[in-house]
Amino acid sequence: MSFFGRELRIATFGESHGKAVGVVIDGVPAGLELGEEDIRRELDRRMFCNIPVLNPRCEPEEFEILSGVKDGRTQGTPIAIVLWNRRVISSYYDELWLKPRPGHADLAYYLKYGKNYDHRGGGRASGRTTAALVAAGAVAKKLLSTIGVEVVGHIVELGGVAISKDYTIDDVKASWSRQLPVVDEGALQKMLSVIVEVVKEGDSIGGAAEVWAVGVPPGLGEPVFDKIKADLAKAALSIPSAVAFEMGMGIRLSRMKGSEANDPIIVKGNRVGLATNKIGGVLGGISVGEPIWFRTYFKPTPSVRKPQQTVDLSTMSQTELAFKGRYDVTTVPKALVALEAMTALVLADHALRAGLIRRDKPLGNSI
Ligand SMILES: Cc1cc2nc3c(=O)[nH]c(=O)nc-3n(C[C@H](O)[C@H](O)[C@H](O)COP(=O)(O)O)c2cc1C
Repeated sequence: MSFFGRELRIATFGESHGKAVGVVIDGVPAGLELGEEDIRRELDRRMFCNIPVLNPRCEPEEFEILSGVKDGRTQGTPIAIVLWNRRVISSYYDELWLKPRPGHADLAYYLKYGKNYDHRGGGRASGRTTAALVAAGAVAKKLLSTIGVEVVGHIVELGGVAISKDYTIDDVKASWSRQLPVVDEGALQKMLSVIVEVVKEGDSIGGAAEVWAVGVPPGLGEPVFDKIKADLAKAALSIPSAVAFEMGMGIRLSRMKGSEANDPIIVKGNRVGLATNKIGGVLGGISVGEPIWFRTYFKPTPSVRKPQQTVDLSTMSQTELAFKGRYDVTTVPKALVALEAMTALVLADHALRAGLIRRDKPLGNSI
């Protein structure tokens, strides 16, 4: 359904070509400094206006904070944020009604909801819904900043081109000043050429994004079903087009010997920690005070201009479909911002559960 989280809980709503998408965020303590600029900053990060094929019209989001904030601080009451769907073009979708797009949610929605679902723009399954996640994530990031936790991500693979360079967390942050957040300039240029080629071919590409959470205290996550890695995996795989989740070095670890895979335990100043962090900062589903990191893989965007086989459900006859509307040549850049947002929501939820963020009194200035 559309609720997520326990102590920090969100409820999202809206379809791609309906009036709006949005989110209600409950559980945020009173007194957190929060303004429209905090939401705007995160929403702008998912625009990628400097690559026109990713966002030809480059129009800023029109959104409103409807409740929960007074004089620049949260009230401790539900925060409702609405993002209006302006200038949608639904006519492209007329010929698609009852002709499900291969790879999209159309077929599954038809089989489950019959003719009741709004197929325009992908309806509730649309990537548009992730804008609401990003707005909620902006609030969660602000909340995490009160305990020194920061969440940032980058693209590690796109259209078959992978980064091949060592990097630090500062490199990941600095990559956001590039056209796409990619730490390896050579790989970035190749990715941009692949994008241009694929647009010419009327096709699409997938890839992978990696998220880092730094400053994470030990103790986030609970045995056995609320392990932090289980909640992160659920959060990541809730993002449309996500197809795989990999904690730390994941698949590469599975191919190593134990002695090679284990991260040695050492004294680090006044604490105990890991010498390396191949596992991604989580043991037994609980954070150990090292950065948490993971990758999520995304399939190519389903809607493509190349003709694809489908069935006309009104006549049950085989037919072809070449999508004529607007589509994202890749979902990865925007999905990465949603992935950061979902990560922040999971960590803030667990920080509240662990009592590291409290809401029994206002944050910051007291009464
Ligand atoms: C940010 C974002 C943008 C997306 N844009 C498109 C798009 O333009 N066209 C499309 O067919 N799918 C797009 N998708 C992917 C579909 O929403 C997704 O493939 C579909 O809902 C089916 O879900 P699944 O791939 O998780 O099975 C996008 C996904 C995200 C996260």
